[in-house]
Amino acid sequence: MTILVTGGLGYIGSHTVTELLHNGFEVIIVDDLSNSERFILENIEKITGKKPIFYPFDLKRKELLTQLFDAHQIDGCINFAAFKAVGESQVKPLDYYENNLFSLINILQEFKSRNISNFIFSSSCTVYGQADEMPIDEHTPLKTPESSYGKTKQMGEEILKDFAQAYRKKVSLLRYFNPIGAHPTALLGELPIGIPNNLVPYVTQTASGIREKLNIWGNDYPTEDGTAVRDYIYVVDLARAHVAALKKLMAEQQDTVIDIYNLGTGKGSSVLEVVEAFETANDVKVPYQICERRAGDITIAYANADKAEKELGWKADTSLEEALRTTWEWQKYLESRTQ
Ligand code: NAD
Ligand code: WQD
Repeated sequence: MTILVTGGLGYIGSHTVTELLHNGFEVIIVDDLSNSERFILENIEKITGKKPIFYPFDLKRKELLTQLFDAHQIDGCINFAAFKAVGESQVKPLDYYENNLFSLINILQEFKSRNISNFIFSSSCTVYGQADEMPIDEHTPLKTPESSYGKTKQMGEEILKDFAQAYRKKVSLLRYFNPIGAHPTALLGELPIGIPNNLVPYVTQTASGIREKLNIWGNDYPTEDGTAVRDYIYVVDLARAHVAALKKLMAEQQDTVIDIYNLGTGKGSSVLEVVEAFETANDVKVPYQICERRAGDITIAYANADKAEKELGWKADTSLEEALRTTWEWQKYLESRTQ
């Protein structure tokens, strides 16, 4: 079986490609390197002993995508390619709608015209906004996300539901909570460009001295220690969920399938708990200061991931500390590359 993985050199994509190769799938990657680097391809080969076919182009280039589908028999797609910076999406909304939705539609057009099914979409817990009740299961009402980025995820889901219904296709919408960590070999991980927005890359860069202090955005939330709570899921666990979701889709007998899964650990951790876990796991200090709340932040979000466990036989079982240990190893690897 040959799977097209878009954004396959990115953070979650590269880990998923590795898991797909371990599971005997052939992989074709399309990635325009807008938020990734070529050495990741070599590292995937170092880990798996296999080199996926790689096309470095922008998925908005419809003619190149058509040529790819002409050249290969493709059995399914995992679509990671997207812009993902929440703040940037507020100042460049058109770039986000164009990149995240045109790319998606271009691939779906190829699927439609060639009678291919099995499509997995990277969605996000951002589609729930601040949910009224915890934990968040798949029936929790959706709220219009504040950011244009978040809206591209909600619109992407709607496009895929219509696509599945109208053309009798099988799709899986995977709503990730907060992915963290790196590959246990330290050869794959997140490559934050510029000043990181997300918590764990900022913590990591603070521990290594690249940033002076972590700014903790608010300690007056109605949580146990006053800092906001999220569900941090280890990226390799998340990657494994994609393989499970793909195998399930492929085994489905019906023509039309719309699967939706929350992918998280089921456990919430506060910002301060993440800092402490990082310090314990790596025996390093993370200097921090408490600041005002960050605009647009929610108080608390963690998943009920029982549906994924029941239907996919999948569970995120790596501890927060272990995930944070791999992040630190990855940071040391990145620093060794630049020396
Ligand atoms: P990433 O930026 O590391 O990976 C995305 C990859 O897609 C990059 O390698 C980039 O170069 C590529 N890409 C972007 N636009 C492209 C285009 N038009 N054509 C070809 N390649 C293109 O991001 P990630 O963290 O691995 O996220 C993967 C997916 O998961 C994204 O869709 C993101 O929105 C979603 N997601 C991420 C998180 C998170 O916190 N990381 C949470 C929820 C959902
Ligand atoms: C986590 C917590 C911050 C940085 C974002 C997107 C969401 C999804 C995941 C893709 C919050 C606090 C952070 C810092 C801090 N992405 N924090 N100091 O906000 O849950 O979600 O990434 O779909 O759509 O919005 O993740 O890592 O930015 O923040 O105190 O320097 O850490 O306030 O409480 P978030 P995050």
